[in-house]
Amino acid sequence: MASRVDAPLKVTGRAKYGVDNNFPGMVYGYLVLSTIAHGEIAAMDVTAARSAPGVLAVYTPFDPLELRTPNSPLFGDTWVPLQDREVAYYGQPIGFVVAETFEQARDAAALIEVSYHQRPARTSLLDGLDSAEDPPPGHDGAPPSLEVLAPGVESIEDALAASPVVVSATYTTAAQNHAPMEPHSAVAVWDADGLTVYSGNQGSHMVAAELASAVAADPASVRVVNPFVGGAFGGKGRTSAPAFLAAAAARALNRPVKAALTREQVFTATANRPATVQRLSLGADADGTLIALRHDSWCGTAMDRSFVEPTSHGTSREWYTTQNLAISQKIVPLHIPPGTFMRAPGEAPGSFALESAIDELAVALRMDPIELRLRNNSVAPPGKDLQWSSKHLDECFRIGAARFGWANRSPNGHTDGDWLVGLGTATAMFPALRFPATVGVTLRADDTALVATSGADPGTGLLTVLSLVGAESLDISPDRVTPQLGDSALPPGGMSGGSTATASAGTAIMVAAAKVIDDLLALAAAPGAPFAGTEVSYADGRVLADGRSMTFGELLRAVGRESITATGSSAPGEELTKHSFSSFGAQFCEVRVHRWTREIRVSRLLGVFDAGRIINPQPARSQLMGGMIWGVSAALHEGLDFEANGRPANADLASYLVPVNADIPEIDVHFVEYPDTLHNDLGAKGVGEIGVVGVAAAIANAIYNATGTRIRHIPILLEDLL
Ligand code: MOS
Repeated sequence: MASRVDAPLKVTGRAKYGVDNNFPGMVYGYLVLSTIAHGEIAAMDVTAARSAPGVLAVYTPFDPLELRTPNSPLFGDTWVPLQDREVAYYGQPIGFVVAETFEQARDAAALIEVSYHQRPARTSLLDGLDSAEDPPPGHDGAPPSLEVLAPGVESIEDALAASPVVVSATYTTAAQNHAPMEPHSAVAVWDADGLTVYSGNQGSHMVAAELASAVAADPASVRVVNPFVGGAFGGKGRTSAPAFLAAAAARALNRPVKAALTREQVFTATANRPATVQRLSLGADADGTLIALRHDSWCGTAMDRSFVEPTSHGTSREWYTTQNLAISQKIVPLHIPPGTFMRAPGEAPGSFALESAIDELAVALRMDPIELRLRNNSVAPPGKDLQWSSKHLDECFRIGAARFGWANRSPNGHTDGDWLVGLGTATAMFPALRFPATVGVTLRADDTALVATSGADPGTGLLTVLSLVGAESLDISPDRVTPQLGDSALPPGGMSGGSTATASAGTAIMVAAAKVIDDLLALAAAPGAPFAGTEVSYADGRVLADGRSMTFGELLRAVGRESITATGSSAPGEELTKHSFSSFGAQFCEVRVHRWTREIRVSRLLGVFDAGRIINPQPARSQLMGGMIWGVSAALHEGLDFEANGRPANADLASYLVPVNADIPEIDVHFVEYPDTLHNDLGAKGVGEIGVVGVAAAIANAIYNATGTRIRHIPILLEDLL
């Protein structure tokens, strides 16, 4: 186990985040946001703002910065600010004030008077269900409607009607805001070589490409730097409004520009996890064998229809074996801020509904919920013939049950003084994915090595993983490996998203390291070199032949080289035609509900995960624990509320609740470790997102066990149990 290589920098405040960068002549930008949810900007009076002290420029849709709409392979068309007068949500960026100081920019922004032609806003998902639409065609995130029926079965309704035991219920989940500790921000600098932007993100390469396209610059002249990222989890995948505006303003003014969202602005000027409504129907035999499963989902989305929270996704591609399966996904366009990926997009809210419904079915069958889950354990995703490469969900449940004391659970909970105590469980799954990634590995004459890729470490520990996998691949100790990331000038790494970074970068490191060792051996055996004409091999950081050996540094010095570098790339390939890939887990939760006050406390949590090879146990455990805490947060705390006029009612960290230490018990994270080398040579499957999956359901199921009350929405509030 290795400590994070960047830990000392982070805990001493020496880690330099995007906005920590300062440049001579730098000026400050402040975003102006709309104060209506729907309409057209009629006019913006900027006279007072323009003449306020220190102001250099005021940009509005009437006097915009020049920005073009970039098209990203991952996100499609990305909206850029100030290009039209339409307002589609409250808190939409509509202006940008640049001044000598932050305070001057902020004060001038307050002097801008905006008048609107206001139109009625639609902000309620529930009210909009009747006018739900299909997701836009070709939308990557949206699962197509799917129906798989057993031979002779006419419809999913017939399969349900023929099932001896049926449960049907509707579940809802609230919108959640990305509220990272580091607000979305950027410092943009133009010089003779082009544009450099310092900005926390999940993939400097993608942001550099989007910025180049937005400001119509040669992609080779745009560099994005993000060695440290203060929270991302999907929320910093897209290029942020401050980055677009700072880049364009820095060019227009020929001054470096720094722009950051305020805490409150983060709640609208970025993107959220949309609210969902999900209707589940499960039909089973009396012995618990699933006969039919129907999962219909609706999610809110912004008027640009740019994101779908695909809650039926997991049900369609990962979860239980059943002969009859039907899923559907609809969207309800609303005048709310855009949605985006948030930790386990789809699976997190989807698992609340599905895993609650499975618990309801267990109750209806009078069956242990673990037994029910294992009875329907899938060997392949539903409707597919590609079996899982590696699945040890049964072991996760067995080990978890023993560790958690599941055998002592009674169907009606138990009491401890004035506390009603209940236990709940849920399955966790998240697909194991990879993105294409390229890594450079350099051997240096001082016997150290460099592992470099453009990817991002948003707190996940990827930087440390680079040094560990680099050291293993080069057969040297990790303290001789310097990892580098967070700079689009480095070889193009994947994105830190979708729980892919370790598997993507790790396999590329293995390829690059093998190449650089080959190059080293060729150098060693070349005419005139120390091992000229000999059969050479490599081990332990040394070139070996005939009982002689030299370290790679000694060899490089002997041939007069400072270093040699090789790049290696890896991408998903043929394995996708052979198997299905997923991480799996079992979540266990104990809650205590106070008999008189109905206060809800999560008192114990355990997650047992089958996520392939674990490269570095400490940060892997922290990732999963963080995900599980987010699950508690979703279950009991978080919910972004919009007023009828579209204004977010709780756009700050005082009223948008997240758990504090006192809300979180000791969390037990356990791995069953089966390296999945069918997925990739490293054997790692990804630990980023699966931690949150199933937690909210495990909590709701535990609350039912404790109180007998089934709550079908999150967050669950004390008043729900009165
Ligand atoms: Mo992922 S939704 O980028 O944590």
